[in-house]
Amino acid sequence: MIFHGHLNREKRGTGVEREQWKSQFGFLLAAVGSAIGLGNIWRFSYMAYSYGGGAFLVPYVVALLTAGIPLLILEFGLGHERIGSAPLAYHKVRPNSEWLGWWAVTFVMFGIDLYYNVIIAWCLNFFAYSFNLSWGSDPNAFFFKEFLGLSDAPSKIGGIRTPIFGALCVIWFVNWAIVYRGVRKGIEIANRIFMPLLFLLTAVLVFWSLSLEGAGAGIKAYLTPDFSKIADPRVWIDAYSQIFFTLSLGFGIMIAYASYLPKKANISKSAVLTGFINSGYSLFAGFAVFSVLGFMATSQGKPISEVVSQSIGLAFVAYPKALSLMPGGNFFGAIFFLCLVVAGVSSSISIIEAFTSAIVDKFGYDRKNLVTIVCVLGFFGSIIFTTQAGLLWLDIVDHFLTHYGLIVVGIAECILVGWFFRIRVLRNHINKVSTIQLGTWWEVLIKYFIPLVLGVILSGDIYSEVSKPYGGYSWTSLLLIGRDWVILTLIVAFLFSARPWKTGNNKMGGRSEE
Ligand code: TRP
Repeated sequence: MIFHGHLNREKRGTGVEREQWKSQFGFLLAAVGSAIGLGNIWRFSYMAYSYGGGAFLVPYVVALLTAGIPLLILEFGLGHERIGSAPLAYHKVRPNSEWLGWWAVTFVMFGIDLYYNVIIAWCLNFFAYSFNLSWGSDPNAFFFKEFLGLSDAPSKIGGIRTPIFGALCVIWFVNWAIVYRGVRKGIEIANRIFMPLLFLLTAVLVFWSLSLEGAGAGIKAYLTPDFSKIADPRVWIDAYSQIFFTLSLGFGIMIAYASYLPKKANISKSAVLTGFINSGYSLFAGFAVFSVLGFMATSQGKPISEVVSQSIGLAFVAYPKALSLMPGGNFFGAIFFLCLVVAGVSSSISIIEAFTSAIVDKFGYDRKNLVTIVCVLGFFGSIIFTTQAGLLWLDIVDHFLTHYGLIVVGIAECILVGWFFRIRVLRNHINKVSTIQLGTWWEVLIKYFIPLVLGVILSGDIYSEVSKPYGGYSWTSLLLIGRDWVILTLIVAFLFSARPWKTGNNKMGGRSEE
């Protein structure tokens, strides 16, 4: 059983107390909270639809089983065994690999999280707009022109959009208020409220949307398998990337979260549960997305293919359009956007924690002050994405960080742990504390299979990068914004790892040697 009782803080060798989850169930909810995010709701649905409906589930599940869950076990196991946030855990694997941990938490915190919170802020705006369907008869013009005031080039920054800025203040405040209270009183309690709320609201949306006229046609488009599509290598590449992003792998988050587990912790079972709950949620939420699209297509007499759109367009254009046609659409819309806000915030807090925890582990600063500083910096960093060029910046930064940051960290992580660490020791440790036992197959996946798959994805990405500028942007914007964001976070990571350890935490060793 992993859902057992109240666990106390454990004193480590240095005498510094490391906070612990109140229960393993609380840890599981927090990991699920990090995993389930904006990506589960719109990215997954759209991918499933465009990659052969039900047939997409084949590559998706294969990716989950061969890379997602094994890597999640690795990250949980590493955080638990080495007892540290990503930089500390990597330092204790090999001191010269500490930078990898710093890089992960830095580019996710001061890259991905900055625009991620702006998207959550849009969702908060749209939550409010839902009540009187403010987008009117042309949601496309409303979103891009009136709301974003979108400029036509990343260099034309224009002004800050006031409603977005206002919502952003609220969202960063909520992030701060949760993480400030700590692991147990803040993050754990927030997820204990957020996760049941999210599941409940999503269930309301799914059952409500299934009752709409035309829902069946939408579900049919969502799930009818078109097996001819899975012969295309792109489908496999995207399935692996989606699993990576959706499980927060390579973010340094799962390592930090697992470091707050007590000595006895069911590592592999938690990873399996997190993986299945996260993917199950995506699949389930997809029903609400597609029933609504089916309804809209039917009521407008159009084929489904004409009403679906990609990611951002799906949530902020196609969905509002449908809401205007639907009886009770304003209420449905409010629930939908609230789900996005809740799913988003529970992901965002996880990186704030992972970053803060990295600094505390190394420099021993006061945690509360640090959370405040990190959130204030995060807030200021987000502002660029609230400008008229915000969406363009977001698109470029997202492209570079999720394609190059996460994949490179993933490869390095597997090679480091698989080849330069006694992976057998880690496996034995995980097996000792877990109910699900790992065989040598797990080592094979970590040492050979996952780095190979990620290597193929990376080469494909680099190839398409150089053959054509991404998204039709100018090379100058791509290099100055995208590439330099990657490089800047890398420099910061090296600076952090070059500083001397102010705490005694860097003593080598871990739980398996106790
Ligand atoms: N897994 C999340 C999703 O699918 C993404 C995510 C997790 C994230 N943690 C994060 C994004 C921290 C930004 C910051 O959407």
